[in-house]
Amino acid sequence: MTSNILLIGGSGKTGRKVVEGLKQQHQNVRLGIRNNVPAFDWDKPATWPNALAGMDKVYIVYYPDLAVPGAFEAIKSLTEEAKKAGVQKVVLLSGKGEKEAERCEQVVANSGMDYTLIRASWFNQNFSESFLLEPILAGHVALPMSNAKIPFVDTTDIADVVVKVLLDDFHNGKTYEITGPRALTFKEVVMEIAKGTGRSIHYEAVSLGKYKSMMSAAGLPDDYIWLFDYLFREVLGKEENQAITNDVEKVLGRKATDFREFVQYTTRKGIWHQGIPQSI
Ligand SMILES: NC(=O)c1ccc[n+]([C@@H]2O[C@H](COP(=O)([O-])OP(=O)(O)OC[C@H]3O[C@@H](n4cnc5c(N)ncnc54)[C@H](OP(=O)(O)O)[C@@H]3O)[C@@H](O)[C@H]2O)c1
Repeated sequence: MTSNILLIGGSGKTGRKVVEGLKQQHQNVRLGIRNNVPAFDWDKPATWPNALAGMDKVYIVYYPDLAVPGAFEAIKSLTEEAKKAGVQKVVLLSGKGEKEAERCEQVVANSGMDYTLIRASWFNQNFSESFLLEPILAGHVALPMSNAKIPFVDTTDIADVVVKVLLDDFHNGKTYEITGPRALTFKEVVMEIAKGTGRSIHYEAVSLGKYKSMMSAAGLPDDYIWLFDYLFREVLGKEENQAITNDVEKVLGRKATDFREFVQYTTRKGIWHQGIPQSI
């Protein structure tokens, strides 16, 4: 059956791949992003009704993170608006181990619409499309939490899971914790990328305080520094968040992508052999 599906964050790391996956399944997709007609802007609730009009299902990616002040209120208003618009099912991308995000999950779970919650671990693609690309290109990655073992997950796996749960009502009411198949420290990640690319890349363990000072010296805004401080402490600082799950396999019937495979396919794309971009 064909559904009309709004993909909030449809140009982002998971959203783009969800769009492709749904198109392959002959679904009607609408991108919920600022540069679209109708537009969707988290900061302009007046844009939400037009973006939701006529939609059966919605994939919600909140930006920048469900833990930031204002996220709870935004998710509450959006779900109310979605229900009013006749949306029947919502899939929320959440962060594994974030207590604040769980409050937002509860809003979706209690919305009266069908729902599935996807709690993802840190993405592999943070090293190829996000804030960790620049240090990789520079050959020097200074990060705190050197002892944390992180079960990095590939956005391809998240997107495949999202497509599956959007289309299959078997997953209604379920919460999936999506991780990769191995937990790696930042040092191990850097070694894997260095080995896979044949480039010289070094990891430097720094304290969280020093990392925050580095972000501040680089001119990053205070709310960005607050968020990273929170994510490093809350997600990476707790042992329970290092656990590996088999939810990717449970939903998809195939193994989750290993970090090594991510390194291989990203190396083939040439992303780690380019110059340092002006802004990431
Ligand atoms: N990165 C991770 O490791 C990780 C791990 C677990 C969970 N998550 C969760 O994943 C979500 C996305 O994080 P991400 O950093 O990977 O971002 P992302 O999905 O790669 O990209 C951001 C998306 O948000 C959209 N966007 C940005 N500002 C917007 C606004 N004001 N209104 C509407 N859309 C806006 C962008 O669209 P346009 O700019 O085109 O409008 C783009 O589609 C967050 O909720 C985060 O908690 C991330």
